[in-house]
Amino acid sequence: MFGTNTMPIKLTSAERSIASDVYAHWAQSLDQYETSPDVSAFSSKFDAFLHDPTANPLSADEMAGYNLFRGKANCNSCHLDGRSTAPTPANGTAPNGEDTGAAADTKPVFTCFGSANLGLPLNPRDAIYYQNTPDFFGFTANPFGFGFRDLGLGTFLRSGPGSWASPNDDWTQFAPTSDGQMQTSSARNVAMVPPQCPTTEAPGPYFQKEFFHNGYIKSLKQLVHFYNTRDVKGFHFNVTSGHCPKGTVEKVNCWPNPEVPNNMDMTVGMLGLTDTEENQIVAFLQTLSDGFTRPYPDINTYTGVCMTGGTAATQGNNTLIPTPTPLPPCASAICGVAPLPTMPIP
Ligand code: HEC
Repeated sequence: MFGTNTMPIKLTSAERSIASDVYAHWAQSLDQYETSPDVSAFSSKFDAFLHDPTANPLSADEMAGYNLFRGKANCNSCHLDGRSTAPTPANGTAPNGEDTGAAADTKPVFTCFGSANLGLPLNPRDAIYYQNTPDFFGFTANPFGFGFRDLGLGTFLRSGPGSWASPNDDWTQFAPTSDGQMQTSSARNVAMVPPQCPTTEAPGPYFQKEFFHNGYIKSLKQLVHFYNTRDVKGFHFNVTSGHCPKGTVEKVNCWPNPEVPNNMDMTVGMLGLTDTEENQIVAFLQTLSDGFTRPYPDINTYTGVCMTGGTAATQGNNTLIPTPTPLPPCASAICGVAPLPTMPIP
């Protein structure tokens, strides 16, 4: 916009110092606000339990879920819970061993801030696939239509379409080993809902949410079931979302192809959890919502309607729309950029 002029606003160096100072303080106050109890409350049932387990015990199912989260299911290897993580057994496969480490004296944030590719299918409901013509500003969000693939960290490291320039050229070489990786979100507040619809899980009255970066998963039961069964023999089908074979139910006993098969994380996918154990992990995740010990004064402002009916395992399935067949291949502006992906992305 300003050509080669890097200082289009004419300020003296003294004025520039004042301006920089204002920006620095602005950033600091945002930072302070985000770490304040208004935003980071640490007021969940689980926080109360950590503080004093005798006075604030978890229910039997919640406690069983916590033990699975940090043990057999090994969720805490990525969603750090302030403890050590379960040792990997000699054969290196899940389910992993029991975590016997001591709890750290911290407020766990339930993320390692790292990135992983969980192998989620492409979600054809995402608006981005349809934003392939100019809007009223003349801006086209996604010129590739269904040729768009979200390579996550890989696209960022290549400074690819829709991404800012990578801040460090030395990192570009790591793009092929980062394709498909998304940042590990915190598991805190994933079950937070308005009081009128007191859960995320069908039959409800429940509050419909969408989980993971592309919203493919609609309930916490589905989320845990995905981690548990993605790689179980007979659950994966060579199809895209909306095309699971007759006799199967998508997200229950049919998982379509991953959007990006490269660099898939193999510590999850076959956890050997029973149906009850899946539900116990859901019960534990529900203890991570803030507002338990210090209720939010304005929590009652939701004016929408709650959802009812169905089961948590199939919730959201009535909104499935078929992925176009054949799915256009990944656009060369995304998948054909050096350094190339380790294997072709379909
Ligand atoms: C290999 C690392 C890893 C492991 C192990 C792992 N997760 Fe995750 N988790 C992630 C990543 C990465 C994301 C974000 C993925 C995305 O957005 O596509 C995530 C997201 C989540 C979210 C947030 C979803 C949202 O939309 O807010 C929850 C809840 C969650 N995981 C629960 C679990 C549970 C329960 C387990 C154990 C059964 C588990 N995770 C094991 C890496 C991991």
